[in-house]
Amino acid sequence: MTTIRLPGLVDIHVHMRQPGAEHKETWETGTAAALAGGFATVFAMPNTSPAVVDERTLDLALETASSGARCDYAHFLGAGLGNVDSVAKSAGRAAGLKMYLGETFGDLRLDDPGLWAAHLERWPDDGVVAVHAEGPSLETVVGLAESMERAIHVCHVAGAADISLIAGAKERGVAVTCEASPHHLFLDRTSDLSFGRAEVRPRLGTPEDRRALWDHLDVIDCFATDHAPHTLAEKDGANPPPGFPGLETALPLLLTAVHEGQLTLDDVIERLHLRPIEIFGLPVDPDTWVEVDVDEEFEIAASGMSRCGWTPFAGAPVRGMVNTVVIRGATAYEKDLTVAAAGTGRDLRSEERRTE
Ligand code: DOR
Ligand code: ZN
Ligand code: ZN
Repeated sequence: MTTIRLPGLVDIHVHMRQPGAEHKETWETGTAAALAGGFATVFAMPNTSPAVVDERTLDLALETASSGARCDYAHFLGAGLGNVDSVAKSAGRAAGLKMYLGETFGDLRLDDPGLWAAHLERWPDDGVVAVHAEGPSLETVVGLAESMERAIHVCHVAGAADISLIAGAKERGVAVTCEASPHHLFLDRTSDLSFGRAEVRPRLGTPEDRRALWDHLDVIDCFATDHAPHTLAEKDGANPPPGFPGLETALPLLLTAVHEGQLTLDDVIERLHLRPIEIFGLPVDPDTWVEVDVDEEFEIAASGMSRCGWTPFAGAPVRGMVNTVVIRGATAYEKDLTVAAAGTGRDLRSEERRTE
């Protein structure tokens, strides 16, 4: 047994499904999954139902989060067709602005680069605009950010061409940051998954795409799960929605890669703590931390705390067990036991947090 203490880990990309699809996940179940996975903070995506695109829907989402969350959180606003002139006024209350520029789940997809530019222009310079973009749309939106000299964050980079494009932009001095998701780092098209269970956007890449991500680790600012729960019945049904759960498996998979020498523990802390804090300007609490046993070996269970009831990593042998999560001095999780009650999590963008 070798237990180590890590600082409060942040997952900047999570889909909570509430309101609108509580059979897939709720704030109560999703944040229980976060704690079991060693995360103290999650950022929720806006493609709920209704989508979070204005003050009213943000209020609704934050009320739900405030009564359900067991860990700390912030919520993204979604860039839409009809909110170009209004969404930025709520920027201070949001994790950032999310723009869906390609194939995704939900109805927030934007196809017009003129609209992308308008959103990029209006969102405050010190705020984060996160994009779901691949291939041509990624090239276009990075080009827009470059010409506007504004920062942009690229979600779940999945392919060799895209990571090279981001590497090149960084070399030119473009203020672009990016995240990679465990499923794109640890799975590819040759992985043993049935059709519906393999569905995810961006799609799983080729083994070469996967290798390219590892070869460009220095270009990857953050690891983010893109925890996108859909039930097993939906995944195995006729029209499987895209997405994988990821909160409970990310840290064990990454710690296993550390054990195998693919990256260092500092690489993990940088991408799950330091860079998220820098990029999103988050408060740091010295009494928030996670304790893991980096020697404990186990097989990933077929299902966990997430309501979706499955994982693409079922049966994978890993090393690195979350023992304890402490948030602002209070124990929130003790191995296999969710301690934090629903509603104890805090909104990191609330007025009171920002002025502390
Ligand atoms: O696979 C995905 N699932 N990609 C997305 O862009 C959305 C996500 C979801 O919300 O299910
Ligand atoms: Zn996405
Ligand atoms: Zn996502």
